[in-house]
Amino acid sequence: QTELIHSFKGIPFSTTVSTELLQALDTFEAREDDVVLVSYPKSGTHWLTEIMKNLYHCNNDNNATGQVTLTSALEFGDLSKFDELRNLPSKRLIPTHLSHDMIPVQFKTKKCKMIYVIRNPKDTAVSMFHYYQQNPLLPKIEKWSTFLDMFLKGEVVYGSWIDHVQSWEKNQNDENTLFLYYESMKKDLPKYVKEISSFLNISVSEDQINEIVKKSSFSEMKEKAQKEKVDTKHTVCALTSDKKLIFRKGAVGDWKNHFTSKQNAQFEALFKDKINSSELARQVEYE
Ligand code: A3P
Repeated sequence: QTELIHSFKGIPFSTTVSTELLQALDTFEAREDDVVLVSYPKSGTHWLTEIMKNLYHCNNDNNATGQVTLTSALEFGDLSKFDELRNLPSKRLIPTHLSHDMIPVQFKTKKCKMIYVIRNPKDTAVSMFHYYQQNPLLPKIEKWSTFLDMFLKGEVVYGSWIDHVQSWEKNQNDENTLFLYYESMKKDLPKYVKEISSFLNISVSEDQINEIVKKSSFSEMKEKAQKEKVDTKHTVCALTSDKKLIFRKGAVGDWKNHFTSKQNAQFEALFKDKINSSELARQVEYE
């Protein structure tokens, strides 16, 4: 099962992400109007893309000539991916789980808009544990305690959660990056749909916002995923194109059903100082 994972610059990746593509990231030609959707895995990537799709009324057909296309995850596949994206005539929404130091340099130099969604790392770990169990593209880790050890050491796909957040901290005061928190979105989605739309200069009415909130609810998205045919060429998260694997609970605080108090103490011991020193991580709701 270890053949499902390879390492690049010390970070574990699934084999759906090729080394040649990772090596070539800085040759990627960004466009000023690209919008990059960034997250550590299991932080609400599909949720954010659903909101974006509805805001732009776009599709995810790579041959689309429409105005906006939701592309596959940037790092998914081999180098032909870059040609595919280059040939897209439309504006591109590009999801990725890459850390700030790995994203193509042109996203930075061309000042592309980026949205980074953050989730409580304890819930993220629980969500990722189930993903590892159910996703045939990831190794089976039977025990939660084993997985938690791996998560805390950063020995999971895309590496350590805190390193990822800290890498994106560089953009904290960048007006072209919007930071969103999963827990806040759960509490007041209309507010954040509004925030995203003004960040992207899209004008939407209250009715449209309510419609987007409805369409991007956990239950609607889950139901749609059950009916949808899997398109193996399209992935929002480079780790699967099967959306049925994504909608598990969609809840805040599920970590309490998994962490023992000893594991919670282990988490605090390893993460607390780092979290306190990171303004982005500090703002996560941990309870
Ligand atoms: P759980 O495993 O805790 O249920 P990603 O899209 O980055 O892979 O993240 C997947 C996580 O986001 C899963 O968490 C999934 O249920 C949750 N999720 C997906 N859509 C959601 C929605 N509309 N509202 C809330 N959570 C959602």
